[in-house]
Amino acid sequence: MSDLSYQSGFANHFASEALPGALPEGRNSPQRCAYGLYAEQISGTAFTAPRAENRRVWTYRIRPAAIHGEFSPYAHPSFHNDWQSGPVPPDQMRWSPLPMPSPETDFIDGLFSMGGNGSADAGTGIGVHLYAANADMTERFFYSADSEWLVVPQQGRLRIATELGVLLVEPQEIAVIPRGIRFQVHLPDGVARGYVCENFGALLRLPDLGPIGSNGLANPRDFLTPVAAYVDREGDFDLLCKFQGHLWRAPIGHSPLDVVAWHGNYAPYKYDLRRFNTVGSISYDHPDPSIFLVLNSPSDTAGVGNLDFVIFPPRWLVAQDTFRPPWFHRNVASEFMGLVRGEYDAKADGFLPGGCSLHNTMSGHGPDAATFEKASSADLSKADVLTDTMAFMFECRATIRPTLQAVRATHRQSGYTACWSGLRKHFDPTRP
Ligand SMILES: [Fe+2]
Repeated sequence: MSDLSYQSGFANHFASEALPGALPEGRNSPQRCAYGLYAEQISGTAFTAPRAENRRVWTYRIRPAAIHGEFSPYAHPSFHNDWQSGPVPPDQMRWSPLPMPSPETDFIDGLFSMGGNGSADAGTGIGVHLYAANADMTERFFYSADSEWLVVPQQGRLRIATELGVLLVEPQEIAVIPRGIRFQVHLPDGVARGYVCENFGALLRLPDLGPIGSNGLANPRDFLTPVAAYVDREGDFDLLCKFQGHLWRAPIGHSPLDVVAWHGNYAPYKYDLRRFNTVGSISYDHPDPSIFLVLNSPSDTAGVGNLDFVIFPPRWLVAQDTFRPPWFHRNVASEFMGLVRGEYDAKADGFLPGGCSLHNTMSGHGPDAATFEKASSADLSKADVLTDTMAFMFECRATIRPTLQAVRATHRQSGYTACWSGLRKHFDPTRP
């Protein structure tokens, strides 16, 4: 087991070495590196990106990343970016949790694509996937050449060993793995289920806080990046790669997680959603759910997100003369929601931990009939204290085009829209 310790801060210029003196001083690429290591840079943004957005890491490793065999296609039945290119139904959709696999299935084989838009080449869009797994990745490693990965575990911990160190992530935490970074996932609890959002756009970052001020929402010091932890192991392994929406496999004779030291600001990180400093109304009404924004991938239009990662954590609702659950609404953005634990305050039932819903652009949604009736007559002199809940949303400026397998999935709930059919007509022109 590698050393599980972390460096605190969001995309800081970290430096870490697993052997003393492995990091060269004063230069990035000395003529000869200590311990016979190779120097290799991984650029996560264009070389010439503005300094505030520029992300890269220098690695000092046992072998360069170029050493592996030739890639051949790897047939994955359920993980791809083949969302429907034809007509997309505007229906609200909801799914029960992805069933656990019965044969041995690791994190990569357990991926099931739900929908998305854009592409790596376009530099915009997202891919939304679920995973359910019951086996460790032992003889293989993976990287996505297409996308940055936001991983949201719902059940079971993930031990994500990456080139730059090890992340142990549990439900109610998230992990972000940068594009191109190689990794391997073990399941300390034997099984795991959760969600993955692929980000084809600008790298995730902390949002500006505007009038909230210099503190609040997700605080930078709560983001944790691993320290260097290398594996010096040889064998007959596979290097899996997601490239242009599909998987490829190449033989590799050693573990590519062989970085002995590194420095830079392009590295995986994790964040505990329970650390989120939730802000809300203490008078009346709700602010927009942008107050729940954890991480943001901006688009090229100011204020419009390619990906907004939003959570609905435990909180107190105290607003007066106010319908306290999330209101009915339609949104120019498209919303994919999941539930990590507990209950979501807009739905009385049917939205289960591990389940998910899709409300695409301008499709009406909001509380179900039972929630509406209850909240309309609730005693507002007391606070609603939501303790057992952790819902989240992948929100995207573009339509999340479901895959055919998502539309036809056996875990899709038929008749989801019936949750609103019980909303009775209350209108009476004679009773103001
Ligand atoms: Fe919504």
